[in-house]
Amino acid sequence: MNEINWDGLFSDQAKNMIPSPIRELLPYTKKPGVISFAGGNPDPLIFPVAEFAAASVVLGRRGMEVLQYGATEGYEPLKTFISNWMAPRMGRVTGLDEMLITTGSQQGMDLLCATLINPGDAIVVEDPTYPGAIHTMRNRGARFITIPCDSEGMMVDLLPAKLKAAHDDGISVKFIYTIVNFQNPSGAVLSARRRKKLLEIASEFGILIFEDDPYGHLRFEGEDEPSIFSMDTSARVVYACSFSKILAPGVRVAWIAGDPRIIRKMVLVKQGVDMCTSVVAQALVTQYCEEGHLDGFLPKIIKHYSKKCEGMAEAFMKHLPPDVEYKAPKGGFFFWLRVPGIDTKELFLKAVERGVAFVNGPAFFANGGGGDCLRTCFTFASQSDLDEGAARLALAIKDMRSK
Ligand SMILES: Cc1ncc(COP(=O)(O)O)c(C=O)c1O
Repeated sequence: MNEINWDGLFSDQAKNMIPSPIRELLPYTKKPGVISFAGGNPDPLIFPVAEFAAASVVLGRRGMEVLQYGATEGYEPLKTFISNWMAPRMGRVTGLDEMLITTGSQQGMDLLCATLINPGDAIVVEDPTYPGAIHTMRNRGARFITIPCDSEGMMVDLLPAKLKAAHDDGISVKFIYTIVNFQNPSGAVLSARRRKKLLEIASEFGILIFEDDPYGHLRFEGEDEPSIFSMDTSARVVYACSFSKILAPGVRVAWIAGDPRIIRKMVLVKQGVDMCTSVVAQALVTQYCEEGHLDGFLPKIIKHYSKKCEGMAEAFMKHLPPDVEYKAPKGGFFFWLRVPGIDTKELFLKAVERGVAFVNGPAFFANGGGGDCLRTCFTFASQSDLDEGAARLALAIKDMRSK
């Protein structure tokens, strides 16, 4: 019998896949005694377990419908709820043909890439950006044009020159990916001026904008900026949001909104991927939302996470050396730190020895960089672990500097 030649069998895509840097860190973060500031996990202690369990009445009431295969486009009562609930953010009630329910925003991202990206096409991403997006986009054969971020988010003024250079090189740029609110990982909010400018630039170059907004509802202070979707009059913005951070990631229910023509194409891709997002999960989420629990839960998690964010800020202030740069975010899940002169991949190993974990900077840079940066998540650790974790991180930095 011949040996299986796996390399000969794997597709080019499979051969070129690289593991998700955050998922690869999981075994380290699960070591006994390690305080994890790594994954972007909500705090399970605040999950609305009782209210969600009560939503299961829908299985008795509508069991014959929700235990059946559902429409690829999504469960209509949920789409109706979302389009009304989101109207203030979207600037209007979006039509049902402008929305697709997805199995997490991660799937929305993949469907969008499958719809738009041929191998070698480019996507503009923020530097740093969400590693899950880099992963999906790379799997679909995209190359990256990176634009740095500052405290106002993507530095959009740098964009036209890069887009022009790509055009001159014959590279087809399909869309700009931006995490507009409490960006993962930088925590920045894209300013209103830059949102407007981004739209103008996208229009000038004839490309789309993918506005990813899983953290927008988690604002601790200040006023919301208008979504780019709400400013757009030319159907060039595709907007994604998810129940993962505002309810629970285990439901794997999210949505993506945009022009009916692009939604239709994504529906066709999804038909071949999972046919539909779990109808049971969608019906439970709908029942929970229609009972008014989502509106009740949001202020509760905002208060909870805002306190944790303060706890991490205080702990960093107390323990970290003064040259470590960071800024407390006004919402979301993350702190983004720069530790001058330190390779954070090496620091990670020292930190795990000391009993604390984070995600190192390079994971967030599509074309390399970020060697002295790292991300910490404040939602998961208890208040006392926030303090202890910061103290351990400070010791690990000290270990590195005294090498
Ligand atoms: C910016 C961003 N987009 C999308 C996702 C994926 O979320 P979901 O759980 O809805 O797939 C995440 C998850 O952390 C994220 O941070």
